[in-house]
Amino acid sequence: MNQNELKQAVAKAALEEIRNQLYKDTIIGIGTGSTANFFIDELARLKQDFDGAVASSEASAERLIAHGIPVYDLNSSGILPFYIDGADEVNARLQMIKGGGAALTREKIVAACSEKFICIADESKQVEILGDFPLPVEVIPMARSHVGRELVKLGADPQWREGVKTDNGNLIIDCYNFLLDDPIKLETMINNISGVVCNGIFAQRPADVLLLGCSDGVKRLT
Ligand code: 5RP
Repeated sequence: MNQNELKQAVAKAALEEIRNQLYKDTIIGIGTGSTANFFIDELARLKQDFDGAVASSEASAERLIAHGIPVYDLNSSGILPFYIDGADEVNARLQMIKGGGAALTREKIVAACSEKFICIADESKQVEILGDFPLPVEVIPMARSHVGRELVKLGADPQWREGVKTDNGNLIIDCYNFLLDDPIKLETMINNISGVVCNGIFAQRPADVLLLGCSDGVKRLT
């Protein structure tokens, strides 16, 4: 199976994971990226069985709406039973690096409002130690240079993702060569830099379930 087939397999597995827990008033949290897109396409088949979704990006909202799935504002949806999203890296504790698609801040917010985070990923995303994937950090534009200097002090090699603006109107700095051996601590330390909106370490609120697409089938890890 190629990578897209593995992503599609985990999208189908995620649908099976939740399909018996959908009610007419259920609102589902939806992530961003190609794996989340496969999930949105699968979810569309069951659109009569639930109310709608909260999206972690404008791109996912557009895809949901194109399928006829109502998209709600998180402020009016309350606590969500599930959040389904991909990852750029995931470790054995189900801590992740996310934000390759620049949607990390809204992803972290929707995840924080969800009872169950179901991470869907192909096996290439599974790592022992997080940090090979460049860690995205969303920053307020005027703080870009300041945040870059502070990230160097923490041991990163920061690079501005030029030409990219987040859905919140901010910038992304990608941190290369950053070994995340204590992800929970580093998540807080980066957030404490003035001008940082959010960083792509999802360790304080890891996933609850990982559906991992492998060549010999989908593995369910908790
Ligand atoms: C977007 C994300 C995505 O979940 C992550 O980049 C994985 O993307 P894909 O499913 O396309 O591999 O965090 O900000």
